[in-house]
Amino acid sequence: MIMTAPTRVIVIGSGFIAGEHLNALHQLPDAEVAGIVDLDPGRAAAAARAAGGVPWSVDLAAAITEWSADAAIVCTPNHTHPAIGRALAEAGVHALIEKPLAITPSAAAELVTLFEDRGLVLSAAHTHRYAPYARAVRQAITDGAVGRPLQARITLLGGWIWGDWRNWQIDRQRSGGHALHNGVHLLDLVTWWLGDTPTHVHAYGRKRAAADLEVHDYLMITVGYASGASAVCEMSRANQPRGIGYREVFVQGDEGTLRLPWDNEGTLLWGHDGTKSLAGGPSPFLAQARSWLATVRGSAGDGEAVTGRTGLAAVVLGDAAERSLADGTMITLTGEVAR
Ligand SMILES: NC(=O)c1ccc[n+]([C@@H]2O[C@H](COP(=O)([O-])OP(=O)(O)OC[C@H]3O[C@@H](n4cnc5c(N)ncnc54)[C@H](O)[C@@H]3O)[C@@H](O)[C@H]2O)c1
Repeated sequence: MIMTAPTRVIVIGSGFIAGEHLNALHQLPDAEVAGIVDLDPGRAAAAARAAGGVPWSVDLAAAITEWSADAAIVCTPNHTHPAIGRALAEAGVHALIEKPLAITPSAAAELVTLFEDRGLVLSAAHTHRYAPYARAVRQAITDGAVGRPLQARITLLGGWIWGDWRNWQIDRQRSGGHALHNGVHLLDLVTWWLGDTPTHVHAYGRKRAAADLEVHDYLMITVGYASGASAVCEMSRANQPRGIGYREVFVQGDEGTLRLPWDNEGTLLWGHDGTKSLAGGPSPFLAQARSWLATVRGSAGDGEAVTGRTGLAAVVLGDAAERSLADGTMITLTGEVAR
């Protein structure tokens, strides 16, 4: 059904990433922030003030009814996504749930079914898909610029580890482990770029910041695909100095090479026709919100909205990487892994 009135969106969780989603919502004329829900009343109230004095609550069920919510963006720790998603689906509310959709494939699959059975939109916030660099790489590959893609490699190195040992991100029970928690971004990207079906995952990890860290802060994950293509995802959260950041992308096809070196605002495509620079684009959080909102409102949108099934596929890959880290083996994928 096509909506005509603005879509009333609740933002659930008011921590680090909620601000990005709120900024995006404020820029969309078809969206209205219905209110903010957080278990911590002080954080909820502060975020509601910063969002222009919208209502806030610690009670999600009451908020959905009182604020006549159409949709919600879930910005809470990973392990809370299934229960919050279930409450939204049962109340008939569309959702954009932060990545990873859940910390187990079965919980992510249950969410997909809950929303699909009710004809509701579920999307997972694989925000990197909306970043100009990622879109440019995808576009170049689908345009045939490198021919048949054979290999993708992405490196995302960061210099900070969550500073407080009470933080949920370094607690495996709440984040699912780092190969899943942030690994899903990279695993989703390379799979999307290659447009192939993953068949094998192997992960190598280190705990550079401290040996008794519960999660690996350096990871090298390799993925094998049905066509014989492969991908390497390298990521770190513990480089020194803390402020350092580094990203590099490399895609090799049978007719060309695409390379995105660090310190270059554009994306350089190296193919048989020489080198050219590819265009940029808007903020990934804005592009993501716009795409999701269009789907919620019943319009075609840009056709790039990430589905719940894509979120599930990323969880399957992240979970396989975690299992590989646990026992050192190569994991063969047998379940559903959509592209
Ligand atoms: N898309 C991206 O690029 C990106 C980047 C960072 C984080 N994330 C994801 O966003 C989510 C939130 O991460 P963050 O860094 O903002 O975390 P955070 O710890 O900064 O904030 C989480 C907030 O959720 C609240 N909360 C916890 N349980 C709740 C519940 N059951 N109901 C309501 N509120 C609850 C906490 O009080 C806190 O205010 C995670 O899933 C994370 O993986 C995504």
